[in-house]
Amino acid sequence: MGKKVLVVGGGGRCHAIVDAISRSEQVEQIFCAPGNAGIAALATCVPLKDTDVDGLLAFAKSENIDLTVVGPESSLAAGIADVFRANGLRIFGHSQAAARIETSKEFAKEIMLKYGVPTAQYTAFESYEAAVEFVAARPFPAVLKYDGLAAGKGVVIAQDLDEAKEALKDMLLDDRFGKGRVVIEDYLEGPEFSFMCFVNGHDVYPMPLAQDHKRAFDGDKGPNTGGMGAYSPLPFITPEDEAFALENVLQRTADAMVAEGKPLTGVLYGGLMKTAQGVKVIEFNCRFGDPETEVVLPLLESDAYDIFSAIADGTKPATAPKWSGESILGIVLASKGYPGSYEKGAEIVFGEGFDAKVYHMGTALKDGKLVTSGGRVMMVVCTGKDVIEARAHANASADKVLCDNLFHRKDIGWQAGK
Ligand code: AMP
Ligand code: GLY
Repeated sequence: MGKKVLVVGGGGRCHAIVDAISRSEQVEQIFCAPGNAGIAALATCVPLKDTDVDGLLAFAKSENIDLTVVGPESSLAAGIADVFRANGLRIFGHSQAAARIETSKEFAKEIMLKYGVPTAQYTAFESYEAAVEFVAARPFPAVLKYDGLAAGKGVVIAQDLDEAKEALKDMLLDDRFGKGRVVIEDYLEGPEFSFMCFVNGHDVYPMPLAQDHKRAFDGDKGPNTGGMGAYSPLPFITPEDEAFALENVLQRTADAMVAEGKPLTGVLYGGLMKTAQGVKVIEFNCRFGDPETEVVLPLLESDAYDIFSAIADGTKPATAPKWSGESILGIVLASKGYPGSYEKGAEIVFGEGFDAKVYHMGTALKDGKLVTSGGRVMMVVCTGKDVIEARAHANASADKVLCDNLFHRKDIGWQAGK
C-alpha cells in the first residue's frame, strides 16, 4: 500500500518539502495543512492552521497518515511532535523541549557554552538599567537579541548608545508581549551561511551548504526580509570549514541535546558565520530554513520518504542521503513594497518559454487566475554548471514571470562571483 503523508505548513519551504516527497515512489497521497495554491498541484490542501495541534491530530488519525512532516517552528513550539508521539503517530520534527534550541536564544547559548560549540560570548539581562550599563561600557556595534519567539523584535545591531537604549527599552520595558529577557553578545564579522542537517537523535546527516540573502535590494541594501534568494554550493567555504562545522557545531550540538535529555529528531539548522577566528554559530533553527530549503531539497537524490521516516523513528536511513552536487540558485519574487505594506491580488502569468522550477510562497487562485497573496510570492529555482550560470538562468526566468506588482533581486549569489 502506498504511503500517506501529511506536511504541516504552507510557504515555499513546504512546497519544496512536498515536491521532494512527491518524488518518492512509495508515497501515494500527500496532504498539506494549510498548503498554498502551488502546493495544491501536488497535494491535497487541508484548511487547518499549522498551530492547530488538536485539529491536525484528529485529521492525521482520521486519514490514517503514515508520516507527518513539520515545516514551521511554530508547530513544534506548540508541541505538535509531543502530542503526535503520545498518540502513537510518526512525526518528523522535534519535541517542544528540543525546539528550544531555536525558540529560546538563551537556552541555545547555554548549550553552546556548556558543550564548547563556537559562538559569540554573551550575557543575559532582565533589567533595563543593568543592560544599558553593560552596553555603555563595551565597544559598538552591540548585538541585542530578544529572548523568545521574537514577536517582531528579534535582533538589533545597535551602532551607538542611543540606538541600544531605544532597542533595550522596546525589549525590556515595553510589556505588550510580556516581560522579556535580552541576550547581549559580541559583534562578529564575516560571510554568513546556512548548514542544515537531518538528526535522528545521535546521527547527523549534512545537507549541502546554502546562503540566504536577507536584504530587500541588490548590493545587500534595503530593509531586512524573510529572505530574497539562496544558492548552493558556496565557493568561499572550504571543505575544512565544512568539516569543522559538521563536527564542532552540528554533531556536537546533537550530542549535547541527547546528553540534556532533549534529543533532536528533525532538522538542525546552523546559521553560521565564517569569521577571522573560524566558523561560529549566529543562531540555530529547529527546522528547514526558508528560502534555503528551496535550493537544497531539489538536490536530494535519495527517497525523501525513507529519510524523513528514519529520522522520525530515531533510526538510521538505509543509506545516507545522497545529493546531486549540482549548482543551484533561487530568486524570490516579492510584492512591490515588501517588507513594508503591499497590495495583493495582482495577476501572475508565466511568459513564453518559462522553464524554471517554481515554489509558491504567497499566491492564491482567484476566479481561476493565479494572483499574489503575500509579501514573498514565489521563488524561481534553476540549476547550472556553476552558480553564475544558474543565476543567469534564474534571472532570465524571473523576468518571464509577468506581473505588474512584483520585484526581485538580480544579484543573488554575488559572493560566488559575477
Ligand atoms: P539571528 O536572528 O540570531 O539570526 O540574527 C539575525 C541577524 O543578525 C543575523 O543573520 C546576523 O546578520 C546578525 N547577527 C546576529 N548575531 C550577530 C553577531 N553576534 N554579530 C554580528 N551580527 C550578528
Ligand atoms: N533563512 C533563514 C531562516 O530560515 O530562518
